[in-house]
Amino acid sequence: MNVENKTIVITGGGQGLGRAMAVSLAEQGANFALIDLNEELLSESVALVEQAGSTAKFYVANVTNEEEVESTFKQIKADFGSIDVLVNNAGILRDGMLLKAKDGEVVKKMPLSQFQSVIDVNLTGVFLCGREAAVHMVENGTKGVIINMSSIARNGNMGQTNYAASKAGVVAMTVTWARELGRYGIRVGAIAPGVIRTAMTDAMKPEMRERLEKMKPVGRLGEADEIAHTVKYILENEFFTGRVVEIDGGLSM
Ligand SMILES: NC(=O)c1ccc[n+]([C@@H]2O[C@H](COP(=O)([O-])OP(=O)(O)OC[C@H]3O[C@@H](n4cnc5c(N)ncnc54)[C@H](O)[C@@H]3O)[C@@H](O)[C@H]2O)c1
Repeated sequence: MNVENKTIVITGGGQGLGRAMAVSLAEQGANFALIDLNEELLSESVALVEQAGSTAKFYVANVTNEEEVESTFKQIKADFGSIDVLVNNAGILRDGMLLKAKDGEVVKKMPLSQFQSVIDVNLTGVFLCGREAAVHMVENGTKGVIINMSSIARNGNMGQTNYAASKAGVVAMTVTWARELGRYGIRVGAIAPGVIRTAMTDAMKPEMRERLEKMKPVGRLGEADEIAHTVKYILENEFFTGRVVEIDGGLSM
């Protein structure tokens, strides 16, 4: 897909990877609809996209709320005329062990609320936004692209029962949607990043960062631009669908 004048919706576009994707793709002249919970961060992202030469609008919405998602996508369609690309990027972490034991006795277990909060954003949010984007693409005859953000943690990771399960589910939905929506000319792909340099990793203790860097054959963390580059690859390569790109510097966990 050539994204010039196309409408790209990015959830979690207020900061981090979502913002980096928008700013990076802005050079190609797409229009952006950025969804997030935080209005202040969203307006900063819109200003950065506009500086980079594209049009952008923001929408404050919670991706876990069905009514908000439905009305937001309707509004985006009304504002821009079409929805060509969705990057399902909003996601959260609420790490913790399944249980903790002392002297053979379980002293703590992961509360259902901690498990559910991650499933709500990372899995239900992806489902709701993907469904609404697909509705508009099919009704409009748009041969669009949906990209879902998974993670290397999808293979299972210590302390991430909730996150790993959600990110594995995202890949399963990706393959399912590619098969179901291919008949409408819609492609669906997923990206599974390793550890990418963000405000969170910048704030880590140096020894923790060094340990993470050593786990990667490339010897460093990933850059947000390298994830944006992967988004561009999926958009441009018309033969890509139903698969996940692992972009993790060869990390072995
Ligand atoms: N940064 C990494 O190293 C890394 C690695 C693998 C996967 N990922 C995935 O990439 C995506 C982006 O990660 P990031 O590091 O930029 O995260 P981030 O925390 O910097 O940004 C996520 C954004 O999503 C928004 N968000 C959270 N809950 C929301 C909700 N209910 N409704 C609407 N917006 C909501 C947040 O406000 C935030 O702006 C996530 O899905 C994450 O799991 C990131």
